[in-house]
Amino acid sequence: MIDKYRDEVHGEVLQDIEIGEYGYKYRRLDGIIMPPYITPERYKLSRTIELRKGDICFTSYPKSGSTWLSQIIILLVNEGKTPEDKTLRNCVHWVASSWPYPRSREELDALPSPRIFKSHMPWHMSVGGDTSESPCKYIYIARNPKDVAVSYYYFESGKQWSGNYNGPWEHWLKWFLEGNVQRGDWFDHVLGWWKRRNDNNMLFLKYEDMKRDFENQLVRIATFLGYPLTEPVRDAVRDKSSFNYMKKNDFSNLHEIPELDSFFRKGQIGSWKDMFTTAQNEHFDSIYAERMNGTGLEFDFE
Ligand code: A3P
Repeated sequence: MIDKYRDEVHGEVLQDIEIGEYGYKYRRLDGIIMPPYITPERYKLSRTIELRKGDICFTSYPKSGSTWLSQIIILLVNEGKTPEDKTLRNCVHWVASSWPYPRSREELDALPSPRIFKSHMPWHMSVGGDTSESPCKYIYIARNPKDVAVSYYYFESGKQWSGNYNGPWEHWLKWFLEGNVQRGDWFDHVLGWWKRRNDNNMLFLKYEDMKRDFENQLVRIATFLGYPLTEPVRDAVRDKSSFNYMKKNDFSNLHEIPELDSFFRKGQIGSWKDMFTTAQNEHFDSIYAERMNGTGLEFDFE
C-alpha cells in the first residue's frame, strides 16, 4: 500500500505551498499552478533527465485518459502482456512527482529502454526539455474540457494533495475556466501541445476518438511507436485496456493507492451533462468558442 500524500514527506519545501479558496492546496512552478507533490527539485530533474531513443513519454492535462493510454503503451511494448511483478503506476516513471513512486536520476539512468515516462505538464515544461530536440517519442492525449472539468472535480475533492478541497461544483468550474486548478489553464495546455502535433516525434490523440474508433487509433499508436500489431497483440491490447478490465484487474486498478479507490469513475463521453446547468453550459460554450477559434482543434462533447 502506498501512503497518502503528506506535505512533510512529499512536499519537499513547504514555504511555497499555498492554500486557496475552499482549502485548495497548490504550489506554483514557472507561474503554473501545480500539485504539491510536483516539487521544485523533481521538476528540475524531469527537465534535465537524459532521454534516449526508444523511450516513450505520454502526456495529458489531468483526467484526459492518460492512465488508459499508459496501459495501451505497456501492452504494446510487452507483446500484449502486463508485467507480473509490478503495477501499472509502478511501471511508468513520473519524474516530476515525489508521489506515489519517486525515482532518482541514478535509478532512471540504470533502466534499459523503453522507459515509459508519464507527465501532466504543459509543452514548455515537458520531460527532457525541448521535445523537438529529444530522441524520445511523445504521445499527448486530449479530452473534451467539459468531461475533463467534471472528472477533475471528483478527482480533486477531498484529497490530501489538494488540501481536502471542498468547494461546490460551481466554484470548481469557475476555477477551471480561470486556470486556477492544478496544471493551470486547459486551453493553454492542450493548444501548446496541439501546435507541436506535426513534429516527427509527436502523436496527438483524442479520448473521444479512442472511445469511438479504438481499432484505428491503436494502429496509429502502434505505427508511431514502431511496435508490431499482430492479431493476438491487437486482441490482447483491446481486451486488457477496456474500462471494465482495467477497473477490475490487479495490475491496473490502482488499488495500491487508497486515495484513488474511485479512479475508474465512468469512462464515458458526455458525463458533463449530469453536472452542468444550462447557464453554465452556455457560459462554457462562449469561452470555448473564443479560445478555440482558428486553432483547427475540435472535440466531440457527446
Ligand atoms: P471519468 O472520471 O470521466 O470516468 P486520467 O487517467 O488522465 O486521470 O483520466 C481519467 C479518466 O479516464 C477517468 O474519467 C477514467 O474513468 C477514464 N478512464 C480510465 N481508464 C479508461 C478506459 N480504459 N477507458 C475509458 N476511460 C477510461
